[in-house]
Amino acid sequence: MSKRIIVTVDGFSSCGKSTLARALARELGYVYIDSGAMYRAITLYFLRNNLNWNEPDQVSEALKNIELHFEPNPTTLKSEMHLNGENVEYIIRDIVVAEKVSEVAAVKEIREFAVAAQQRMGEKKGIVMDGRDIGTTVFPNAEVKIFMVADEAVRVERRFAEMYNKNPNITIEEVKANIELRDYIDSNREVSPLRKADDAIVLDNTHLTEKEQLQVALEIVKPHLV
Ligand code: CDP
Repeated sequence: MSKRIIVTVDGFSSCGKSTLARALARELGYVYIDSGAMYRAITLYFLRNNLNWNEPDQVSEALKNIELHFEPNPTTLKSEMHLNGENVEYIIRDIVVAEKVSEVAAVKEIREFAVAAQQRMGEKKGIVMDGRDIGTTVFPNAEVKIFMVADEAVRVERRFAEMYNKNPNITIEEVKANIELRDYIDSNREVSPLRKADDAIVLDNTHLTEKEQLQVALEIVKPHLV
């Protein structure tokens, strides 16, 4: 049996991290965790309950009342985000959540809450997790760290196509502005900003298909499984 390791996939918004991380986990028979979904679900909770993430009392009260877990969809078998027992996988991808998530994810207490949960999920290894700080903060000792990049125009096109499918009222300008805003806030926040871990390998998928990027990642991972 091959060794069970931790693989982290970090990078900017909409560069295909979750597509790659999910495919890689399937290929390896590992668990896949979308850490961004957790910040999105927390953001949804704050928005729905009219809470202010800049008010420490409201943050600590909210965190006491938030339960997050992933559950496989019975039809697609893809793991989906549940917030206090409700499947929120679809709604957390909405632009309303995307517009606020980076502000919420910059709050120290909120990050501590999410990071602790993510570290528990990785205790038994055999996990691929994608996000912004997985290789730097959540699993600094991960065996394999991938940092994904892609040209901005390609990232905007990909995310626009994805969001347009669900909401034909969305414009490419809105999507572009959101990606730029999130990248800026994520890279410049005080607590674990988005950056490449020193030992991460850069994977540029601007010109790669999903199949090709998976092949590249498998070549990176394979030597660590023996
Ligand atoms: O899929 P996409 O690139 O749009 O982003 P995501 O992975 O769903 O993450 C949404 C947001 O959550 C990011 O823009 C970050 O603000 C935050 N996030 C984070 O701070 N740390 C992580 N490990 C993952 C996401």
